[in-house]
Amino acid sequence: MSTQAVIMAAGKGTRMKSERSKVMHTVAGRPMIEWVARAAFDAGCEKVIIIVGHQREIVQAHLEAKFGDRVEFAIQQPQLGTGHAVYQAVPLLDGDVARTLILSGDVPNMTAQTLGDFVEASAGFELSVMTAVLDDAAKYGRIMREGDAVRGIVEWADATDEQREIREINTGFYVVNTEFLCTELEKLCAGETDNAQGEYYLTDIVGVAARGGSATAWILDDVAQMQGVNTRTQLAEAAAWRRARINEAWMDAGVTMIDPGNTYIDADVVLAADVLLHPGVQLIGETTIGSGTTIGNSSVIEHSTVAEDVTILPFCHFESARVEDGARIGPMCHLRPGADIGRECHVGNFVEVKKTRLDEGAKANHHSYLGDGHVGAGANVGAGTIFCNYDGYNKHRTTIGAGAFIGSNSALVAPVDIGDGAYVAAGSVVTGDVPADALGVARGKQRNIAGWAKSWRDRNE
Ligand code: UD1
Ligand code: MG
Repeated sequence: MSTQAVIMAAGKGTRMKSERSKVMHTVAGRPMIEWVARAAFDAGCEKVIIIVGHQREIVQAHLEAKFGDRVEFAIQQPQLGTGHAVYQAVPLLDGDVARTLILSGDVPNMTAQTLGDFVEASAGFELSVMTAVLDDAAKYGRIMREGDAVRGIVEWADATDEQREIREINTGFYVVNTEFLCTELEKLCAGETDNAQGEYYLTDIVGVAARGGSATAWILDDVAQMQGVNTRTQLAEAAAWRRARINEAWMDAGVTMIDPGNTYIDADVVLAADVLLHPGVQLIGETTIGSGTTIGNSSVIEHSTVAEDVTILPFCHFESARVEDGARIGPMCHLRPGADIGRECHVGNFVEVKKTRLDEGAKANHHSYLGDGHVGAGANVGAGTIFCNYDGYNKHRTTIGAGAFIGSNSALVAPVDIGDGAYVAAGSVVTGDVPADALGVARGKQRNIAGWAKSWRDRNE
């Protein structure tokens, strides 16, 4: 039997104390709402409707970019409670799809597997609510039972002291017969609210289904999955849980982590077997790391592609960079967008590379800036070489031919072209092209004045 989903995500999330909508806060690089929507699709939902309100343009733009027209949106303005939220989806619900799965946009760790099991177990009931039994039931809604039968849900704010003792709570996930849901939400929102918070409670329809004899509860064992995020502390806890799952999965796939508790891998990262990650490594966004590559302590790699058998020494930062097989990078190297490092290249400490291709075997080992350029195969860029790419208005290119040698502390003032096999003398300020196999010298000529130092001392002492 097919299922459609409604995700509640209109709330502001006041306790996050944030300018940003709560559901756009990230866990392992994905906004919480994206995790929830993915879980719904992966659990087999055909259609996913998101209830948006606070900062809806941002939420909507992100989800459309990720899922295209597979997601639909219903606006809830103002936000009058969870029942009122789901009611906004009624015009978009497909009457031919018998079951509707309702999810909370601020519960990022619920897995597709769990949702699938929940939906399956709900067959034959008008309404099924996912519950959990907690040691500390905090302020969750309490599940009221008579014997084994579910009678309804009482919110913490409305509960008696005795009801607050109940440890079985409402996780905020439901499977409801679509027709029943539409009819009951219509009734609920046509009436007045009648509770401590003055809201239209979705939980009230659980009582209605129970009175009709067709409500059930499905108890979730792995309670970490239902952790809702209302505060920054809970966000950190949810992210830690997710991080541990991601790291376990990569270790199972053959990745070594020296300290998995201190290794940060976003959900969209792809690692090959025999990658070795040292403590403090952070892999961000759509990053791919090839087999046999080692990443040193505290290196941060964002949206980058690193091939096989690359050695990255500690404290490097890559952003939208590419590195080919066998290269050796760092320590303390900064690869900025468009850095494109060829096979077996060496890029060493305090070297910054931007929009520059290094062909196979090229080296820039110490204290350099390579911006808007091309370095030919096997060329050697000496310590302290700077590509002077910017004149205050425009960026210009520097090209260095294959096998060329740039002496230390040279400034190459772009646009400039150093030919294949050419040399540039150390300390040069190169403002014109150097032909292939030539030596370019562009610095003051050395003059020695015999005895000058001694006579200086004699005059002053
Ligand atoms: C809700 C349940 C409670 C359950 C808890 C689990 C109700 C009345 N109570 O309480 O039984 O234990 O979740 O986490 O349903 N939202 C909207 N529009 C609104 C209000 C909320 O879209 O008008 C969204 C929020 O953005 C959030 C979700 O619904 O994603 C849950 O809302 P929240 O206010 O956190 O509900 P709780 O009071 O925690
Ligand atoms: Mg909540």
